[in-house]
Amino acid sequence: MATLQKPTVLVLGASGQIGRFVVQQLDQTPEEVQVRVAARTPERCLALQQEGRDAVLLDLDQPNTFAAALRGVDRVFLLTGYTVAMLVQSKTLVDAAKKARVQHIVHLGVFGHWDCTDPHIAWHQLVETYIEASGIPWTHLHPNMFMEQIPRFMKIRNDRFRVFWGRDRMGWVASRDVGAAAATVLREGPTKHSGQNYWLSVQVAGGDQLAAIFSEVLGRSIRCEYEKPEDFASVMALTDDYRVEPWYAAGAMEFLQQFFDGRMSDFGVVRDDTPYLMSKPATTLKQWAMENRTFLEG
Ligand SMILES: NC(=O)c1ccc[n+]([C@@H]2O[C@H](COP(=O)([O-])OP(=O)(O)OC[C@H]3O[C@@H](n4cnc5c(N)ncnc54)[C@H](OP(=O)(O)O)[C@@H]3O)[C@@H](O)[C@H]2O)c1
Repeated sequence: MATLQKPTVLVLGASGQIGRFVVQQLDQTPEEVQVRVAARTPERCLALQQEGRDAVLLDLDQPNTFAAALRGVDRVFLLTGYTVAMLVQSKTLVDAAKKARVQHIVHLGVFGHWDCTDPHIAWHQLVETYIEASGIPWTHLHPNMFMEQIPRFMKIRNDRFRVFWGRDRMGWVASRDVGAAAATVLREGPTKHSGQNYWLSVQVAGGDQLAAIFSEVLGRSIRCEYEKPEDFASVMALTDDYRVEPWYAAGAMEFLQQFFDGRMSDFGVVRDDTPYLMSKPATTLKQWAMENRTFLEG
């Protein structure tokens, strides 16, 4: 009698803020899937192997690393970084996945309406269209703004923080929940999730609502200052852990401008598929702020 093999899941971006949670979640059910972690450099790959992980070298900018990394892989978590290179990286990776007979691509995209003109969202939509055209069963994840952007760009100083998109409410999701949702899809596979778009926007809050949450969590009055979108350029330039290329930086500025003038107001909605995928309610902004209170200030 033939034995059923566990599917092998290749996770890209495993060292980043979403990928680490995907791996963490998949690791909890070793009987269901074999987790293979992609590492961008040989040094990182070796370090992971020495920890006992199934790790492979895969540099998205080096397509000659794809074939060996994809050998024997059934499902791929496709995550690209904050770069326009995602277009070429994803196109070449999908081509290689097709040759490797991959059975499911789970793509981490963005929240956005189909005819959105923001560059970064348009790039993701082109990637999704290419994945769909490949014939490989797919699932697209559409997270809204990660809550982890709060300590990165909206640190509280002197009891104030700044927002750069006007007074409208933004949609939010915790990275941990994005990772958990992705892990469920990868674990359960294409039979259940092929052809699905999942929307991950669990709560909406603008400056005033965030100020109320931060005040409650920190136990004192915190105020929001409303800045213009163009003022965000200097914040991005000064944020050490967020060095992005000019193309991406311009896209971020465009996003804020479009949100500010109302073209992207549909980002400020709740559309939450996470409970269906995680079997529990998503993390709220208040819960997240309580867990991360030490990172809110600085
Ligand atoms: N920020 C938000 O609010 C938000 C909202 C919705 C969607 N997104 C989407 O989330 C994605 C980014 O996810 P994230 O925040 O988890 O990213 P991240 O923390 O910056 O991590 C990026 C990961 O990709 C890896 N990587 C980068 N370049 C690579 C290459 N050339 N070859 C192989 N691996 C490479 C990095 O590896 P190293 O450690 O080796 O660099 C790292 O593991 C983007 O596609 C973005 O559009 C973001």
